[in-house]
Amino acid sequence: MGRYTVFGNPIAHSKSPSIHHLFAEQAGLTIEYDCTFATKENFIPTLTDFFLDENAKGCNVTSPFKEQVAKWVNVLSANAKLAGAVNTVIKKEDGTFLGDTTDGQGLVQDLHRLNIQVKDSRILLLGAGGAARGVLQSMLALDPSLLIVANRTEEKAQNLASLLPQDNFIGIGLKQLNTIQRPFDLIINSTSASLAGELPCIPDSVISSCANFYDMSYGDKPTVFIQYAKKLGVFNTFDGLGMLVGQAAESFYLWTGYRPDVAPVIRKLRSSL
Ligand code: ATR
Repeated sequence: MGRYTVFGNPIAHSKSPSIHHLFAEQAGLTIEYDCTFATKENFIPTLTDFFLDENAKGCNVTSPFKEQVAKWVNVLSANAKLAGAVNTVIKKEDGTFLGDTTDGQGLVQDLHRLNIQVKDSRILLLGAGGAARGVLQSMLALDPSLLIVANRTEEKAQNLASLLPQDNFIGIGLKQLNTIQRPFDLIINSTSASLAGELPCIPDSVISSCANFYDMSYGDKPTVFIQYAKKLGVFNTFDGLGMLVGQAAESFYLWTGYRPDVAPVIRKLRSSL
């Protein structure tokens, strides 16, 4: 039986154990997956201790330990290297540890599930924190015609753009969006503003009612970002519950080789919010 856990602080309300047990049921596997609370000081000893168990095959890592664990693993995937963060640790046969980040794949898979095209589209990504950084490489791999990262603190957006220099990828300040007169096909909110019930300011000139609005946050009620989009007459609005399940599905696949069907899991989670 494989043993897994998710490390975080706070962690008690994590949905990961429920999601992974549903995946395991689909796969016909028996797994143990629980939550592990850690502090900054005891995170690495607790992680090392977890992997002393020979049944421990992998773990997820969430805030605030994603950067700390990236320094602990033996090898980083290309995505994890760019993100400077790891959300999935895989114990390999030879006893070494691979760190990966599945957030980008989680988002890309969810956009695919929702029939939202990235290739050749104009995309606005709001925010330049860890959440944005974690999905950039996967988004750019799908070849959008333009990806603009717009952030309240302009410098952070510029720094992010300089990590992956290419013509279709630009980093600007939120205020500079006023200079853009053509709407985007897809607007993704990766800021933590929703969590505080706040909104990143975006001018009407970049919004079309035909656009897709995607908030990486989710909740039992529409997020403020989604409420805002609906008020503007935007029909296609989506929250990040599908991305949450998508990133978990990618972790599960890396550990077990089984690709779960995310649709029934998203439905079940939605009904329990
Ligand atoms: P995460 O890991 O969730 O991305 P983070 O790294 O702390 O968290 O980044 C939070 C992001 O949300 C940042 O881009 C932040 O903008 P700043 O870099 O200017 O701080 C953005 N953010 C948070 N609150 C915001 C608000 N009210 N309006 C606009 N952007 C906001």
